[in-house]
Parts: sequence; structure tokens; C-alpha cells
Amino acid sequence: MAKGKIAERSPLMMEMQPGTYFWCACGKSNNQPFCDGSHRGSEFTPKEVKIEEVQSVFWCRCKQTDNQPFCDGTHNKL
Ligand code: FES
Repeated sequence: MAKGKIAERSPLMMEMQPGTYFWCACGKSNNQPFCDGSHRGSEFTPKEVKIEEVQSVFWCRCKQTDNQPFCDGTHNKL
């Protein structure tokens, strides 16, 4: 699977409320880590994520993670 462009070389930790979110996979969104529609016309689509309970999430912003949409530490090797 193709990986998106690096938006930031660090994850973003957020306290998330239950709900459905759309993680930016292409790396072009100006609303990282979430999709803002900038992927249109590319091979990428956002990843839908359902958060069931209040929790801290480390969202991947380098887009190179093997555990989308979550940080797996890959940014440390870029
Ligand atoms: Fe990146 Fe939508 S803007 S996937």
C-alpha cells in the first residue's frame, strides 16, 4: 500500500471523545491528523476510525506507520 507524504515527523496525542473520525492518509491535509479533502484526485482516501470510548490517541502524522492511523514509532527512523 502506498504511503502518504510526511506531514510532520511526530505523532499528535489527542484526548478523543467517542465518535467517527477520518484520518488523513495522503499527508496533504491542512487539518492534521484529519482529512480535509485535499486527497481528491490522488490515489489516497482517508481511513475511517471509530473511537468507542474516551481515550488518548497518538495519531500518525508522518504517514509511514504500519499501524494506520496510529503511531508505531516509524517517524524515529525517517
Ligand atoms: Fe489526506 Fe483526505 S486530505 S486523506
